[in-house]
Amino acid sequence: MGQNPVHAAAVVGLQWGDEGKGKLVDLLAGKYRAVVRYNGGANAGHSVVVGGERYSLHLVPSGILSPSCEAVIGNGVVVDPLRLLEEIQTLKSRGVDTKRLVISDRAHVVMPYHKAEDAAREELLSTTTESGADDTTKKVISAIGTTKRGIGPAYADKINRSTAIRIGDLVRADVLRTKLDMICGLKNAILGAIVGEGFEPFDAEEITTQMIECGKELAPMIKDTAYLLDDLRKEGQPILFEGANATMLDVDHGTYPFVTSSNSSALGIGPGSGVPPQCIDQIIGVVKAYSTRVGGGPMPTELFDSIGDGIRERGREFGTTTGRPRRVGWLDLVAVKYSAMVSGATELCITLLDVLAGEPELKIATAYSIDGNTSERFIPDGHALEHAEPVLESMPGFSEDITAARTFDELPTNAKAYIHRIEEFVGVPVRTISVGPDREQTIMCDTPSHAVCTN
Ligand code: IMP
Repeated sequence: MGQNPVHAAAVVGLQWGDEGKGKLVDLLAGKYRAVVRYNGGANAGHSVVVGGERYSLHLVPSGILSPSCEAVIGNGVVVDPLRLLEEIQTLKSRGVDTKRLVISDRAHVVMPYHKAEDAAREELLSTTTESGADDTTKKVISAIGTTKRGIGPAYADKINRSTAIRIGDLVRADVLRTKLDMICGLKNAILGAIVGEGFEPFDAEEITTQMIECGKELAPMIKDTAYLLDDLRKEGQPILFEGANATMLDVDHGTYPFVTSSNSSALGIGPGSGVPPQCIDQIIGVVKAYSTRVGGGPMPTELFDSIGDGIRERGREFGTTTGRPRRVGWLDLVAVKYSAMVSGATELCITLLDVLAGEPELKIATAYSIDGNTSERFIPDGHALEHAEPVLESMPGFSEDITAARTFDELPTNAKAYIHRIEEFVGVPVRTISVGPDREQTIMCDTPSHAVCTN
């Protein structure tokens, strides 16, 4: 029996999100028959610039901007139907054909009470820590700094089962009504106790009516996407998986508890789409040339000075989803190497390299020191990682504007050396380098191990 020749690839972030995955997916989408989201929800924000026009996508896969591509929202995604419909409407108004969007009947629904629960938990935890808890408690119990999009509570209900609503339920009015009656009673009791005075209970009938309306609009797009993807594979059609959030935010392998609530590494592809892991033969790990993080949790290389401010401004490091300024730091190769291992990266794409232009010195973390012990191993535990001091290696920076470079050889010597060091340390070849937000501002290093073996 020959090996299955069908090509399936994945694009996955190797840091804390916002690596520029959307641009890469958009660049590659034309070669694939389907682009599939398998995790997360409207917490993700993918910015894609096409022909000078910027598109901000949260739930719709970036493949929608490629006319030959089906954009698939897999079962592992949690879908806020109101936001999704808004996004579809915006895309339509800008002339994008949204008929190619398909949604799994088994994706879970983010309901208004999930968003209220997310906000109430965050509020409760941050006020608990502000008012009177001692220092140890403050460190142990603290708000995650979520996007308040209801992601955690929706995934929690998926695991709880009896209080979950799936996309397929939106087109079964009787089932939906019965479930929402029961669920709203329970949520009102819980949320009423957390929020206390001023809490406005959720009206089951109102939500049911709203969701039935959403169901009617979404009905033509709802399918069994596991079978759809299997059919495509059997036809020999290539598929691209688009990771949302990133490996450092993976609920099992990230900096827990400061993570999102899904398997946002490449490991989430199987459960989140129904496509078995052996079918995926190329995993592109996307790495920003420096580090950013939004929300709480440790970030060993974080910068609190004017260098960090400069990178934030030049890199426009403000959240696409929440507008929050992102925390900025030097490139953390200890974290990237670990993420490349967990996600099984077969190649790297380095993004926002242009943002580092003008820095006279570049630093990269190549080990951590804890209590005097130095190790190259990452510590995937949010509390333990708080104590890690990065061991920083210094490299000379580059001053040239590189946004017009289209080949590796056109990059300044110091920028090339920076790329070489990344692939040498991580042990995975760099095949793509992004030097600006536009599709064209991309260097494709086609030859295998290009950057490793050339100068
Ligand atoms: P949640 O996913 O909204 O529950 O947020 C959990 C944590 O993950 C927070 O620190 C968020 O800021 C972070 N997060 C979630 N999605 C993204 C993303 O796409 N980019 C960057 N950070 C994210």
